[in-house]
Amino acid sequence: MNRPTDPHQMVQAATPFGTTEGYMPGFGNDFETEALPGALPQGMNSPQKCNYGLYGEQLSGTAFTAPSHQNERTWCYRIRPSVKHSHRYTKIDLPYWKSAPNVDPDVVSLGQYRWDPVPVSDQPLTWLTGMRTMTTAGDVNTQVGMASHIYLVTASMKDDYFFSADSELLIVPQEGRLRFATELGIIDLEPKEIAIIPRGLLYRVEVLEGPARGFVCENYGQKFELPGRGPIGANCMANRRDFKTPVAAFEDRDAPSTVTIKWCGQFHVTQIDHSPLDVVAWHGNYAPVKYDLRTYCPVGSILFDHPDPSIFTVLTAPSGVPGTANIDFVLFRERWMVMEDTFRPPWYHKNIMSELMGNIYGQYDAKPQGFVPGGMSLHNMMLPHGPDKNAFEGASNADLKPEKLDNTMSFMFETRFPQHLTAFAAKEAPLQDDYIDCWADIEKKFDGTPGKK
Ligand SMILES: [Fe+2]
Repeated sequence: MNRPTDPHQMVQAATPFGTTEGYMPGFGNDFETEALPGALPQGMNSPQKCNYGLYGEQLSGTAFTAPSHQNERTWCYRIRPSVKHSHRYTKIDLPYWKSAPNVDPDVVSLGQYRWDPVPVSDQPLTWLTGMRTMTTAGDVNTQVGMASHIYLVTASMKDDYFFSADSELLIVPQEGRLRFATELGIIDLEPKEIAIIPRGLLYRVEVLEGPARGFVCENYGQKFELPGRGPIGANCMANRRDFKTPVAAFEDRDAPSTVTIKWCGQFHVTQIDHSPLDVVAWHGNYAPVKYDLRTYCPVGSILFDHPDPSIFTVLTAPSGVPGTANIDFVLFRERWMVMEDTFRPPWYHKNIMSELMGNIYGQYDAKPQGFVPGGMSLHNMMLPHGPDKNAFEGASNADLKPEKLDNTMSFMFETRFPQHLTAFAAKEAPLQDDYIDCWADIEKKFDGTPGKK
């Protein structure tokens, strides 16, 4: 920083892009970024000729006529238009990546389920071949519902590119580090962070530190947005400034390349002779983003009882029914418990929504054992669940001092639709057959005696 000698001259920030190198701050902002000076047209979208001989192209993330506060599109200025990144298609099979509806007659989805971590493979698995679908909900063809996946990635994509026309992907790493080299810039992602890759955005995934394992919520429906805070006000929970969108990055590389497209639940490939990551400059509000979960500011009860888990919603994808999400992404992280005369863990519960949870690290308060980092659980629509006996007895008899829940980070993909297990989840993944038994030794305490606790 150069301090001006004239004391009346203001000191101006050096960077127009906030304080994190390589990223621009804000959720859903209208960004502009160029990797070469002057590549971005000013004051208009489609000049007769673009600088550097680039091609102008719009990527529409919402219908042209979506309401202005929801309308999302990005203008790209690229070496070749996307039609050059697309040729004739052939179908391929990725047998572990399933889409809804995927109701397997040999699988019982009705039940409380929990899985140990799916072991990392010693085979070379890419972002595409290492994706393992656990559950599906809704219908990909009508753009409602979701799928949950585990990814097990040991190999980088090389001259291979992918996009999903079906979905935006919410990625929750649990082990290892990945690089998402996208048309709109580079996102490096590690545990305790999440990323959202929008529908239709081309990218390649590289392993920075492997093996990499994590969770994916594939959102078929309306995009994730920040939940309204209501009386909480303008701050806390997830704050807009903590979301980071990459600056423009491109490569100009000729090499035989494959583009894989997920479209209506099926996978298609097309061959091209160059890298499609050729966007030199872009502006708009339809872009990938990452977020550090450590910046999530939890809000809770400070006297007695506790609110519904929706108080911990990070992102919500609306379904069209007010307040009833296609998907909520909910975070259970470190926090203080201070409530008086209160059963502090999550209470016993039956829910019209279905709840898929994953453990990123540490211990979850309702299940001190069994729900381990990398593991998942599913409490499907209207199936009862809650603390096991140890958690119940411990919390019922604890001396209720202020207590810090430390070293804990779990999340939930909660959807209004029932979730169906894949054959992989039911038969190949390390399902804990005895999970249902965690409630077996809960005692009947009632004997009609008034005042008994
Ligand atoms: Fe629940």
